[in-house]
Amino acid sequence: MRRLTRTIKGREIFLLRLRTMLMVCGAALFVLGSTLTSETPPPARSVSSSDRTSDFPPPHWLRTSGASFGSHYVGSRVCAGCHIGIAKTQSNTPMGKASVSVLESRFLLQHPTLTYNDGTRVLRIERRGNQEVYSVNDGQHTISAPILWAFGLGDAGQTYVFERDGVYYESRISFYKAIDGLDLTIGHMPEPPATLSDALGRRLSKEEVAKCFPCHTSEDVVNNQVETSHVQTGVTCENCHGPGSQHLEAMQDAQSDKSHIFNPGTLSPGDLNDFCGTCHRSTRDVLAANIRGIRNVRFQPYRLENSRCYDPSDKRTSCLACHDPHRNLVVDPGSYDVKCLACHANRSDKPTTAGKAPACPTATKNCTGCHMPKLDLPGAHYKFTDHYIRVYHPGDAYPD
Ligand code: HEC
Ligand code: HEC
Ligand code: HEC
Ligand code: HEC
Ligand code: HEC
Ligand code: HEC
Ligand code: HEC
Repeated sequence: MRRLTRTIKGREIFLLRLRTMLMVCGAALFVLGSTLTSETPPPARSVSSSDRTSDFPPPHWLRTSGASFGSHYVGSRVCAGCHIGIAKTQSNTPMGKASVSVLESRFLLQHPTLTYNDGTRVLRIERRGNQEVYSVNDGQHTISAPILWAFGLGDAGQTYVFERDGVYYESRISFYKAIDGLDLTIGHMPEPPATLSDALGRRLSKEEVAKCFPCHTSEDVVNNQVETSHVQTGVTCENCHGPGSQHLEAMQDAQSDKSHIFNPGTLSPGDLNDFCGTCHRSTRDVLAANIRGIRNVRFQPYRLENSRCYDPSDKRTSCLACHDPHRNLVVDPGSYDVKCLACHANRSDKPTTAGKAPACPTATKNCTGCHMPKLDLPGAHYKFTDHYIRVYHPGDAYPD
């Protein structure tokens, strides 16, 4: 309870700061606006949805409290008993597999031995019996630990979590699909660390475990605490929908007319973006942590909210307009055209589209290919889709 009070206090202070900041920025823009030429585009329509929701995040979608509706977790197998179609597709999505038990890592299965030389030491991941052993050797000494979990399905990369002396660590090296091998985990420094233990990985504080696990694992938050003995790998049904025991009872009771489960589909589009942003990072998170430059390209809710297209009250710019969280990401660029053309006119349209946002003077299809560029995040060996929808010319400076 004390922790909860503290975070709420922190949030209020932050909101207060943000409001003051928005007021100051608003005033600055007003002054600037009067001196701008007509060619300068107007400022982004919505900076943030932070000041709309007075109680943020609302308790019923605080995924990390583990206590919504006074219910407890029943496990996604139980949900699958009734929601057969959703369960079948969701469990195989990259989100559903955002972490796996290390023996299920397809990369490690394909590569029984992987090594990385950091200049002074050799790091190695090796299959031994029914363990994946992670070790570091400086020519004289070796230390090692069995890996527990692989975080990240690996479209971008896969990082390993292991335990030594009762403490969790994040591996200093990760597997990257693009290079089919190991490289430094993003955020880790290339200089060889002082100790063998530091060369193996980074110690995760209790606070980091409490953040890192609920984004990649599920059903392990009990009374606001992460209990790693309860970990279910991946993002499961109850991570997004909250513990489901009361829903289960209600659905088994023919008389019940209440579903007793949180459906994020009932949120306003702006709140929905923030909901996905509890993991994908909202504008609030990016501003609070002051993550500037290309490093914020992977935070889609923040990027999207910078676009002039974005309207927190319009379903056509919610994450759900383009993504179904129960299904795999659609990678056919043409299939997103209809999402853009829900608002924008098209040059090929008959002139009955009055009231629509402007048409593209350049092209009539594959909108995202030019206006949502895929940008390389240095160190990640991966190009992220920039959700800041805009006119983009290759080589343009990154608007952060
Ligand atoms: C015994 C069958 C059954 C099981 C098990 C079950 N559900 Fe449901 N669920 C239903 C039915 C039937 C509905 C539609 C009820 C309605 O429209 O109110 C529903 C509706 C829902 C909704 C939409 C609720 C709304 O108000 O919009 C969600 C979300 C949901 N279930 C998630 C889950 C999750 C998560 C689990 C596992 C924890 C689960 N269900 C387990 C039968 C079940
Ligand atoms: C509990 C945390 C969590 C929440 C909540 C969450 N995501 Fe994710 N999502 C992830 C993680 C982690 C990944 C990365 C999975 C990987 O590649 O390892 C991911 C990946 C994705 C992907 C990429 C899939 C691919 O094929 O690469 C999409 C699209 C996505 N999420 C959309 C959403 C949307 C839309 C919402 C809100 C309805 C949402 N997510 C809410 C954690 C979350
Ligand atoms: C606030 C939620 C959050 C926290 C905390 C978090 N992650 Fe993630 N992580 C995500 C989301 C969402 C994605 C997918 C989008 C992306 O790649 O940025 C992701 C992506 C990844 C990926 C790349 C997966 C891929 O193939 O796309 C790895 C590896 C990863 N996280 C490891 C970790 C580890 C290890 C920790 C803790 C030490 C951690 N993450 C903490 C939410 C989180
Ligand atoms: C990443 C978050 C996330 C995960 C994981 C997730 N859902 Fe959902 N679910 C949503 C969102 C968002 C909606 C609202 C969709 C909409 O309105 O378009 C939703 C809607 C639903 C609905 C009601 C509407 C419908 O589409 O029929 C049911 C039932 C449901 N989910 C069941 C499940 C089950 C069962 C699982 C696990 C197998 C699951 N969900 C996993 C986010 C999630
Ligand atoms: C107007 C459509 C649109 C909206 C709205 C949208 N996305 Fe995307 N998203 C895309 C496209 C297009 C891709 C790239 C698909 C591909 O790989 O070809 C993508 C890719 C992703 C990925 C995979 C990683 C990457 O960067 O390529 C994640 C994660 C994601 N979106 C999350 C979100 C979240 C969270 C929201 C809501 C804040 C959101 N998206 C809103 C169109 C959209
Ligand atoms: C909810 C409706 C909506 C959706 C969906 C939408 N847009 Fe927009 N878009 C707008 C509005 C409104 C503007 C601002 C027009 C203005 O101010 O002249 C805009 C502006 C733009 C601009 C000019 C941006 C700038 O900074 O000058 C581009 C480019 C654009 N949209 C492309 C797209 C693409 C591509 C998609 C699909 C991925 C898309 N839009 C989806 C409503 C939308
Ligand atoms: C081949 C790349 C390319 C594709 C594909 C493309 N665009 Fe564009 N778009 C541009 C360029 C370049 C501009 C800037 C043109 C200029 O300034 O003369 C632009 C401008 C725009 C504008 C701003 C118009 C204005 O009056 O402010 C909108 C809106 C837009 N595009 C929407 C779309 C939509 C919707 C699609 C898909 C139907 C699309 N674009 C497909 C390259 C493209």
